[in-house]
Amino acid sequence: MAPFVTLLLLLTWTRVAGQCPPVLLVSGSPGGAWAAITPGGFVLTLGTDWHGGDSSAVSGQLTNVDAIFSNGLAFAARKSDGTLVTWGSAERGGDSSAVKDNLTNVEEVVGTRFYSFAAKKTDGTVVAWGDPANGGDASSVADQLSNVDTIAATDQAFAVRKMDGTVVAWGDSRHGGDVQNFSALLTDVVQLITSSGDPNAFAAIKADGTAVIWGGAVTNAYEQSGGADGAAAAYLLESNVREIVRIVSLVYGTLAVLQTNDTLKTYTPYRDWSTQTWKLRQGTIQLTNVDTVSAVDRNFVARQRDGTVVIWDPSSNTENGRLTDVDWIVAGSSAVAGRRSDGTVVTWGNSFSGGDAGDVAAQLTNVEAIFTNGGAFAALKADATVVTWRNTFNGGDSSAVAGNLTNVSTILSNNGAFAAKKTDGNFFFLGFV
Ligand SMILES: *[C@@H]1O[C@H](CO)[C@@H](O)[C@H](O)[C@H]1NC(C)=O
Ligand SMILES: *[C@@H]1O[C@H](CO)[C@@H](O)[C@H](O)[C@H]1NC(C)=O
Ligand SMILES: *[C@@H]1O[C@H](CO)[C@@H](O)[C@H](O)[C@H]1NC(C)=O
Ligand SMILES: *[C@@H]1O[C@H](CO)[C@@H](O)[C@H](O)[C@H]1NC(C)=O
Ligand SMILES: *[C@@H]1O[C@H](CO)[C@@H](O)[C@H](O)[C@H]1NC(C)=O
Repeated sequence: MAPFVTLLLLLTWTRVAGQCPPVLLVSGSPGGAWAAITPGGFVLTLGTDWHGGDSSAVSGQLTNVDAIFSNGLAFAARKSDGTLVTWGSAERGGDSSAVKDNLTNVEEVVGTRFYSFAAKKTDGTVVAWGDPANGGDASSVADQLSNVDTIAATDQAFAVRKMDGTVVAWGDSRHGGDVQNFSALLTDVVQLITSSGDPNAFAAIKADGTAVIWGGAVTNAYEQSGGADGAAAAYLLESNVREIVRIVSLVYGTLAVLQTNDTLKTYTPYRDWSTQTWKLRQGTIQLTNVDTVSAVDRNFVARQRDGTVVIWDPSSNTENGRLTDVDWIVAGSSAVAGRRSDGTVVTWGNSFSGGDAGDVAAQLTNVEAIFTNGGAFAALKADATVVTWRNTFNGGDSSAVAGNLTNVSTILSNNGAFAAKKTDGNFFFLGFV
């Protein structure tokens, strides 16, 4: 028997072969939730109620389910007939009764982080529901939501790319939900990307290699400076953009832009006291040879191709750390773990959140993969055992159950916990479930 189990990661979902997970609670406190599709198309949920951990109110409808989507506080299950069943936080998308009649022939569902959902139908139209201020109400652009090709989401807004290469957006403007003042620029768009980190900006990449970037730091500076009459522009134009990253900072967040030639730039909003307006300032550091970039607290963590990892706060222009000989990095919310080519791990950041591996540091050898749920890290070793560290509420202390963490094939994370998938198809949960 090789049934499918679909298990949710926050905002993403992964299809893995296996059996129904056994329900095992390692600790029970507020955190995230899990949902899985059983071999017969039924759904199992686990975790806190207000994150969608209790689907009992709709269990009678959860049959013939072929995909599940999450926004972190609510779930949407697509049935094989193209209809949707939702549950979890009612006002954040768990209650879809207002649009129920429109939720037919659903192809895919995208969630903003914690607020709302948008479903793309097979006819290219889109239906949104959830928190009306944060993407759940698309009525202002309803007449434009046809021939939609892809849906992208930040944490509080949606943007869609239409088949004709134009873009439509709705939701909170400081998170990318308003493109009205520059929609004429949004033509020949080939790809829409969202900032990583806690996402609050979009970039529309055009056929000629230019990118129009808005939301987050860009829109904040624009609105603070007085909108259309102020000093800052409603959007930023860049060329050859590969990725954009949102970095938390004192001044409305900084935007990092990684270009296709491995150059990393940053833009931070600042107040120009001479004119009493807000503007965007390009950071003094412009790193080259950058392979990957993530955000950790107020820093960007950039790995250069020679194995150096530079940890830099762009709002104060300070280097806060540097690691060497690192092959790849995994960033949590306040700490980062880097794997070295000899299979050991180096960490940096807030020690409680994993910046210090503490007692298990010596066990971090022969590491093949590292996972994080924000507050804790889990390393999967070559012998299929697992070592976890730091924030105990998030599964960071697995010493008492180390004997159970054998024959592990992979690890899934949600907002509060880990689920270690064992080679026999069962899952072992660690953290808030
Ligand atoms: C639902 O469908 C009806 C009829 O096609 C349409 O008039 C209405 O605008 C749709 N509502 C939403 C929220 O998509
Ligand atoms: C768009 O431009 C109009 C007219 O210049 C202005 O009134 C409005 O504030 C601008 N929109 C935003 C979101 O700032
Ligand atoms: C990378 O590309 C940008 C814009 O295309 C250019 O300004 C910069 O000089 C390039 N950097 C390198 C190292 O090639
Ligand atoms: C964990 O390991 C203990 C000791 O080997 C065993 O008794 C227990 O059944 C295991 N629990 C799970 C869920 O595998
Ligand atoms: C791992 O799985 C194999 C079967 O695939 C089994 O023989 C072995 O006992 C398991 N090892 C542990 C430590 O659970």
